[in-house]
Formats: sequence, structure tokens, C-alpha cells
Amino acid sequence: MTALPPHLETAVHRARDAQANAYAPYSRFRVGAVLECADGTLVPGCNVENASYPAGLCAERGALAAAVSAGHRTFVRVVIVTDADTATPPCGMCRQALVEFNPALEVVSMAADERLAIWSLRDLLPSPFTPASLTND
Ligand code: THU
Repeated sequence: MTALPPHLETAVHRARDAQANAYAPYSRFRVGAVLECADGTLVPGCNVENASYPAGLCAERGALAAAVSAGHRTFVRVVIVTDADTATPPCGMCRQALVEFNPALEVVSMAADERLAIWSLRDLLPSPFTPASLTND
């Protein structure tokens, strides 16, 4: 098993704390996320489901909304934790939400056995639709 690199320890612990707050009575798939800002601030999020299923929110977008609401816009990494057997990548909607702020965001995901997967958002979302896509030039 890959040992947890020291620079990820705090973010993983904060993500596990956030995961404990996950509201996932429908899927029972509990997710915690931490968005690491350029200044080192760690902003947590968890998934928040809803009886009207499509109204549910993923942990990553919860963290993103909290971070932007607190004035952060430059992100270096997102850390995702679940209790799944394999490290899960962020869903498509979260990839799109995150690419807005950093197409090269580092995406770290930890499975139940603490094994890590690490990607660049560039590889998870090639040819992204970004703010530049809205210009006519
Ligand atoms: N979920 C996340 O929080 N992040 C992801 O990237 C994938 C899925 C949540 C949404 C839902 O509450 C549960 O996991 C099952 O899909």
C-alpha cells in the first residue's frame, strides 16, 4: 500500500472529517472532499442528498461553492475520500465545475483501504469547455 505522502496528510484528514458529515441516506455512498487553495487554505465539503434525487449535491461541488463563497478562486488540488474499494474519480459534472478554475487541478482520491489515485484534471476532462470557449475571437 502506498504510504500517505506527508503533504497530503492534513487534507486527507479534513476530507475524512467532512465525509463523516455526509448526508447520503439514499445512495449510502458517503463522500468527503477538500479543496486546497493556493494560499494553503483547505475547504471541506460532503455530499448532500435530497428526497428529490436530482437536487443532491456532490462533495466536490459543495467544497467549491464554500471556497468561492469565502473568496477563494485559485485552487491547486482536490482531495476526495470514499469508502469504496477503489479510489473514485470525480463525476462529470464536478469535473466541469472544477475546470472553470484550474484545468490542471491535481485530483487525489482515496479508497477505503487508503490506496491513492492521483490524476490531473486535464486527463480526466480533455478538451474542456472553459471561459475561453465563450469568446468569439
Ligand atoms: N458523489 C460525490 O459526492 N462525488 C462524486 O464525484 C461522485 C458522486 C455523490 C453523489 C451522491 O450523493 C453519491 O455520491 C452517489 O452517487
